[in-house]
Amino acid sequence: MTKIRIAVQKSGRLNEDSLAILKDCGISIDNGKDQLKATARNFPLEVFYLRNGDIPQYLRDGVVDIAIIGENVLVEKGKDIEAVEKLNFSKCRVSLAVPKNAKYNSVKDFEGKKVATSYPNTVREYLESQGVNAELHIINGSVEIAPNIGLAYGICDIVSSGSTLFKNNLKEVEVILKSEAVLAVSPKITEERREILRKIQFRIKSVLQARN
Ligand code: PRP
Ligand code: MG
Repeated sequence: MTKIRIAVQKSGRLNEDSLAILKDCGISIDNGKDQLKATARNFPLEVFYLRNGDIPQYLRDGVVDIAIIGENVLVEKGKDIEAVEKLNFSKCRVSLAVPKNAKYNSVKDFEGKKVATSYPNTVREYLESQGVNAELHIINGSVEIAPNIGLAYGICDIVSSGSTLFKNNLKEVEVILKSEAVLAVSPKITEERREILRKIQFRIKSVLQARN
């Protein structure tokens, strides 16, 4: 029997809520946490546990049919990928931040400065739209440490509770985008699997309605 293949974040902020929504949709998955692939017991679905940043490419290639992913990742790496449902969890912002005691007036203050980020495309596009020229320093994690060690003037990263900024003596100065988890679809999905997707979407809509 044909199964739909869904990508879910392997570990991190989206993982738990992603599995919870599948569960609330009545889909039971046997979860060997260390397994990178699992099969649903009562629904034609296979789960692939992947790294966030890799998911857009898997969708593009049609290696997976759908994914639960942050909109911010699609903005950064998957502008060509369609999101069909907003899932109302993992809400965050992608923002620019500078040291708490910096005198900051406007985004023009980033002119000629270094910005550390894991979201280079998002920041580049935003700063360009504002007519600001800055140098990007691309790092994969712990971005908030960069200003404290003299690596950059400011940063661009995800802000959720704001506690990471606070702990690192930074202040949020510009919100580039707001994001939440979405259900994204591969451009290569087959009609047969699209039929299964419709069933999932139907269930998701009722779950979200019941949660409200
Ligand atoms: C993420 C993100 C921010 C932080 C935001 O980092 O990169 O640093 O969470 O959340 P907060 O506003 O609630 O503090 P994560 O802890 O996932 O680690 P990483 O940056 O090393 O990937
Ligand atoms: Mg971080």
